Amino acid sequence: MPDSDNTIRRYRRSIRTSFFLVLFLVFVGGVVRSTGAGLGCPDWPKCFGLWIPPTHISEVPDKYWNDPLSSVNGQIIFNPVKTWIEYVNRLIGVVIGFAIFLQFVFSVLYGPTTVGKRFSLLALFLVLFEGWLGSKVVSTDLKPLVISLHLFVALILGCALLAALFYASNRKIPVSAFKNDKSVERVLWLTSLLIFLQFFLGTEVRSQVDVLFRRFDFEFRDLYVQQLNWSFYVHRTLSILVLIMMVLQILRFAKRFPVVNLYQVITPFVLTLFLILSGVILVYFDFPALVQPFHLVLGFSIVCAQFWLILNHRFSDPSSNGSA
Ligand code: HEM
Repeated sequence: MPDSDNTIRRYRRSIRTSFFLVLFLVFVGGVVRSTGAGLGCPDWPKCFGLWIPPTHISEVPDKYWNDPLSSVNGQIIFNPVKTWIEYVNRLIGVVIGFAIFLQFVFSVLYGPTTVGKRFSLLALFLVLFEGWLGSKVVSTDLKPLVISLHLFVALILGCALLAALFYASNRKIPVSAFKNDKSVERVLWLTSLLIFLQFFLGTEVRSQVDVLFRRFDFEFRDLYVQQLNWSFYVHRTLSILVLIMMVLQILRFAKRFPVVNLYQVITPFVLTLFLILSGVILVYFDFPALVQPFHLVLGFSIVCAQFWLILNHRFSDPSSNGSA
């Protein structure tokens, strides 16, 4: 195998690894939230002013006994499990920072296309911005808008990595496979729009659940659903429409088989089935803490899978079977 093929493979592997690490971090971020560990460390980047967080209340430095983010009426709020969940989350963030830096270095050394290199660079900027936003999540005392922004930037980061992966190959790009196929285009864009709307509404529902978490101190989860407003009912109902659009999308693309790689169309559909299942479990089984991160990561994955489909549909060379 020629050397250049090997180096490009290495570059693509580094992007793929970065992408799956981002997915993993989204899951861990969900665990942080569902366990109420978001303020497990009241400062950033250190935790209780230390590089290695305390494991016992006696190790917490004095000034945190009067910090509004870590105390109430002079009484420290300290739970070592929550502190370490949050800290592990940050450590994984650092690993991702290095992984994305590495894929950027590989893009400079081995990247076969300029546009691919640009997306690798964009991913590097986004991961730095995301780290800074993480500090704002803590300093604003978990403000819902900042949490949602943090999630949206992670989503753009995931998509930037997918675009870098897509353009990190030697094939002829971009060639629009079905430029004039309006029936495919319409379904593809409408489905994408609906998924994005669902994602957005989901963050709105999440903000409301967070208020309830705080009010009831993560207890009495059976009372939450009846307190949610219209956005929850729209979110729940719209998922049926998303499912119908996904089926339509498969039918439209199936006509172009084998030019279109059907896995790319079926993946968002299968993810939607699991996502709806996790949503139903959340609502009918009183928000099990373990299911919350799954709902989040599945929602995140659907947007990424749909974006991957758009990339492959819009820009792949028909003779290459649409796969990357
Ligand atoms: C295509 C379908 C769906 C998508 C894309 C989607 C996406 C999302 C997203 C991104 C969130 C925010 C999660 C977070 O930030 O932690 C969310 C939250 C939520 N979704 Fe969905 N969802 C879908 C279907 C459903 C269904 C069918 C239900 C209920 C029957 C549901 C119920 C909820 C609830 C209760 C929350 C708040 C979860 C929490 O507080 O942990 N979702 N959704």
